[in-house]
Amino acid sequence: MKKFIIINNKISNIKTKTFVSSDKSLSIRWALLAAQALGKSRAYNLLDSEDVNSTLIALKKLGVNVTKNKNFCEIKGKGLNSFSFNNKTTINCQNSGTLARLICGVLAKSIKSVILKGDQSLSKRDFSRVIKPLNLFGVKINSKKNKLPIIITGTDFLRPIKYDELKGSAQVKSCIMLAALNTPGVTKIRAVPSRDHTERLFKFLKLPIKIRKEKKFDIIEIKGGKQYNGFDFTCAGDLSSSAFFIVLTLLSKNSKILIKNVNVNKSRTGIIDILKKMNANIKLKNKKINNGEEVADIFVRSGKFLSSINCPKKMNSRAIDEFLLIFLVCAKAKGISYFKNIGELRHKECDRIKFASNILKMIGIKVKETSNSLKIYGNPKLELNGNYEIKNYSKDHRACMMSCVAALALGGKWKIHDSDSINTSFPQFFSKLKSLGAKIN
Ligand code: S3P
Repeated sequence: MKKFIIINNKISNIKTKTFVSSDKSLSIRWALLAAQALGKSRAYNLLDSEDVNSTLIALKKLGVNVTKNKNFCEIKGKGLNSFSFNNKTTINCQNSGTLARLICGVLAKSIKSVILKGDQSLSKRDFSRVIKPLNLFGVKINSKKNKLPIIITGTDFLRPIKYDELKGSAQVKSCIMLAALNTPGVTKIRAVPSRDHTERLFKFLKLPIKIRKEKKFDIIEIKGGKQYNGFDFTCAGDLSSSAFFIVLTLLSKNSKILIKNVNVNKSRTGIIDILKKMNANIKLKNKKINNGEEVADIFVRSGKFLSSINCPKKMNSRAIDEFLLIFLVCAKAKGISYFKNIGELRHKECDRIKFASNILKMIGIKVKETSNSLKIYGNPKLELNGNYEIKNYSKDHRACMMSCVAALALGGKWKIHDSDSINTSFPQFFSKLKSLGAKIN
């Protein structure tokens, strides 16, 4: 049965301290690495969402012992290449691109075949980006047109590779790094910078990894084959989930919010830098390091006049999941905002350039779209009072939540379909909004 929500009222006077759900990227990476560790690993504050649960189910299918307790999730790893499963085991990654891409690397040395599948949206996404490097390692992958379902057959004779990762994709980089973990010899990746959680986890686990900067690239070298022990990990809040509240606060009257204990890894904070350039009042407080990752409280206050931005390309990967929200802020900013080289947004859970362009046009904002750029003609006086319906967006969780922010910040009467899509990354989204005073039916 399809689910929808109705929002008919703006929100104002947000004045609160809050926490958001924990980080999805970190939660998935912890589970995949814990499954190959020797001994017990525990994660505290692991994200409880569909993508993370799909990861835990996938690991169970590979014979890994996973238990969830009230305060932590525990995985009893048996070491590298210790999975035990029947040939042609099927793993359903549901909606999770991160799980699907990363697990391909994890399976590089498993000689039994795994059939990897996903939901409708994931089955439309491109897997050539991981098939290509994995083939070079010696992994066999059968697919139709590089889409799920795919059949992965690993090998005992993995060979290290040299690879240029030019998309700025952390999923591709991490897939290669996880394959390298099981590969004797040194794998070398020359990567356009992207979120570096996997690198940090490798360092945290004292695995042999060297990283240096070279002009516009990160050069990453991994010596494979080193076994590591089980480890405990605490996940902080997800910046991508915080972003909905940052933008809602910025666009609402008389509002301020303190979002506590959020992962503010520099490779993820593009949205904060972009919004600050647009004159937003955002501050990071109580900075500290937690398991090799930066964590802070994010303070946001509304009321400042927002200006447009010509967004530098180097921000793209640092803000990749937040662009829908950034585009919404641009709709209410003075001047023309311009985003270039953002073609990767067309390959997310839905085509996010198309989605942004449609929703902005629907609310009366002029946009100019090309295959990999977007121009937004902002209107600081933007206030809505019409009827708006959001549907057919491939159940993209971030598109759904961005639409809710638009409705609550700009007004009008909104019907947003497929609202259960939020369970992918942020099941508490609606209850959090209600606790700020939002009226949602
Ligand atoms: C992710 C990387 C990003 C991001 C996704 C999570 C990760 O994808 O969009 O939501 O955890 O590695 P790409 O690396 O494909 O850009």
